[in-house]
Amino acid sequence: MSSTTEYLSLLHRPRRLRRTSSLRRMVRETQLTVNDLIYPVFVMEGENQQEEIPSMPEIYRYSLDLLLKEIADAANLGINAVALFPLIPTEKKDNAGTESYNPDGLVQRTIKAIKQEIPEMTVITDVALDPFSSYGHDGIVKDGKILNDETVEVLVKQAISQAEAGADIVAPSDMMDGRVGAIRQGLDDAGYFDVGILAYSAKYASAYYGPFRDALESAPQFGDKQTYQMNPANSREAIKEVALDIAEGADIVMVKPALAYLDIIGRIKEYTNLPVAAYNVSGEYAMVKAAAQQGWIDEKQVILETLTSMKRAGADLILTYFAKQVALMLR
Ligand code: PBG
Repeated sequence: MSSTTEYLSLLHRPRRLRRTSSLRRMVRETQLTVNDLIYPVFVMEGENQQEEIPSMPEIYRYSLDLLLKEIADAANLGINAVALFPLIPTEKKDNAGTESYNPDGLVQRTIKAIKQEIPEMTVITDVALDPFSSYGHDGIVKDGKILNDETVEVLVKQAISQAEAGADIVAPSDMMDGRVGAIRQGLDDAGYFDVGILAYSAKYASAYYGPFRDALESAPQFGDKQTYQMNPANSREAIKEVALDIAEGADIVMVKPALAYLDIIGRIKEYTNLPVAAYNVSGEYAMVKAAAQQGWIDEKQVILETLTSMKRAGADLILTYFAKQVALMLR
């Protein structure tokens, strides 16, 4: 340093606290931990089968036997919870999604097997008709419209059958009006007052779900989901949806997708004392993997930075296909 330097007279020099790594660790505000992670997994019929999802490198649909191994792996890495999504054979799909409440259906068998083999794993199940719907919609279709109240009746049956099979938490992702209240009532009437509801409260009509729909072969056969999922341009409406779900009995509220909706996560966190979840969805996963495969980004750093931003915005829980990878990095 030259002796002629005129030092600035600064009372505050924020760089003082960035000088060493121990100082940086001491003033760190947000810490991502394995306890924040929920691992979404795809299950399909068959034995000893696994298929990589082309738009989601390193993510597979597993037959139940192999899924149990994958979940045991996740448990060994310290992951507390999985969210279950089924690939339903076309011949079992119909307009009313009746397979969704078959007591011997794929989801129900999978829940039972996980609870038997890995009882400490929290099992979260998706409540919505799209994987079971011949139209790929989240509700019953009539004259090109998605029926609300008729669909809610089916969702209640679906949620009860998942609870019966042993689900810890049911997660309605369908965006029908009144479904959280109806499911709460249905669960309570059936004696499942301890089964929680993780409500996809602010779920947007998003193009980021594309790879997920490849995974489940559940893309809508006509139209889109804009009459039930939210307009990405809206923020106050997210608060309205959250308020309704809380009033109807939600235990945890969710924002989905996550990365393009960090402001929504932040607003909802200020609004409620319930835990807030964020879904780092399939398209967000695909973009990171694709850029990493090209060698254009540092994959690990981008993953950690992205998930940390969701936590910083206010997410208490993050559903992410990176769960196992992150759990390993955090070791
Ligand atoms: C279905 C559902 C979807 C996702 C989770 N549950 C797709 C959709 O609404 O079309 C998307 C998850 C992801 O993209 O990772 N109700």
